[in-house]
Amino acid sequence: MNTTVPAAVPSPAIEVVNLRTELGGVVVHDGLNLQVDDGEVLAIVGGSGSGKTTLLRLMLGLQAPSAGEVRVLGHPLGACGRHELARVQQRRGVLFQQGALFSALSVLDNVALPLRELRTLPPDVVRELALRALAQAGIEAEHARKMPAELSGGMVKRVALARALVLGPSLLFLDEPTAGLDPQSSKAFVRLVRELRQEMRLTVVMVTHDVDTLCALADRVAVLADRHVVAIGPLAEVAPLPHPFVRSFFLGHQSRCQAESLRRYRESLHEPAVAA
Ligand SMILES: Nc1ncnc2c1ncn2[C@@H]1O[C@H](COP(=O)(O)OP(=O)(O)OP(=O)(O)O)[C@@H](O)[C@H]1O
Ligand SMILES: [Mg+2]
Repeated sequence: MNTTVPAAVPSPAIEVVNLRTELGGVVVHDGLNLQVDDGEVLAIVGGSGSGKTTLLRLMLGLQAPSAGEVRVLGHPLGACGRHELARVQQRRGVLFQQGALFSALSVLDNVALPLRELRTLPPDVVRELALRALAQAGIEAEHARKMPAELSGGMVKRVALARALVLGPSLLFLDEPTAGLDPQSSKAFVRLVRELRQEMRLTVVMVTHDVDTLCALADRVAVLADRHVVAIGPLAEVAPLPHPFVRSFFLGHQSRCQAESLRRYRESLHEPAVAA
């Protein structure tokens, strides 16, 4: 008798199938298909107004598509009831492109907000979890009482990241995470996301215009143009493609993308295998 158990095929973290999105009479997405694998960092690139943030909002269940399906962690968002949607939403964290923090709330209260919304935890536990998330994001407890206006741009991003991580998500969405940061803060932030990604075994969907951030973080890149995904794959495969947007985006960066891919591949050979 054959006792071999076939290896389980990992289900994708997110599947977007035949998506169509119309906003104010404008078709933003049409025939868009995309799969995000469990545990990967997928970067989405595309011109301004190509529908990247809208695509994230659809994956977050904040907006409904005109047609097609978005499945997150196995749940078809369009068919989810309120409670099921809330459960899926508790398993993801988001760093929004605009308005990262509430200006009227302290650092601690900003980070505690998702926990307080659960309405199930006592205040001291909420405080402890929020401080722990801040520490994970590299913000010391002495900054917890500060208001967002008292923080540097890099700190605002870190606090927003702490808020995104406070529920212990398995999915993390980052919309232009390094936009507006100076090169040093940007590098530090990328390093932090890299560490947390390993530590928390996150699946990350990231929108970015920044080739440095892309090279340092992304396992694969999806190119959004002409209302759909025109290319998807590892950086080294996508960067040399002849599509006009891809050419302009990676102009002058091809050899760096190749070198970065090779470095990451070598690095992966030395990384311990992640247990299922
Ligand atoms: N609520 C809305 N109502 C009408 N049109 C909208 C709405 N939100 C976005 N749009 C339009 O949808 C298109 C895609 O917008 P989106 O913000 O997703 O682009 P993006 O790729 O994230 O751009 P950027 O790189 O500038 O952030 C744009 O033309 C935008 O004007
Ligand atoms: Mg955007």
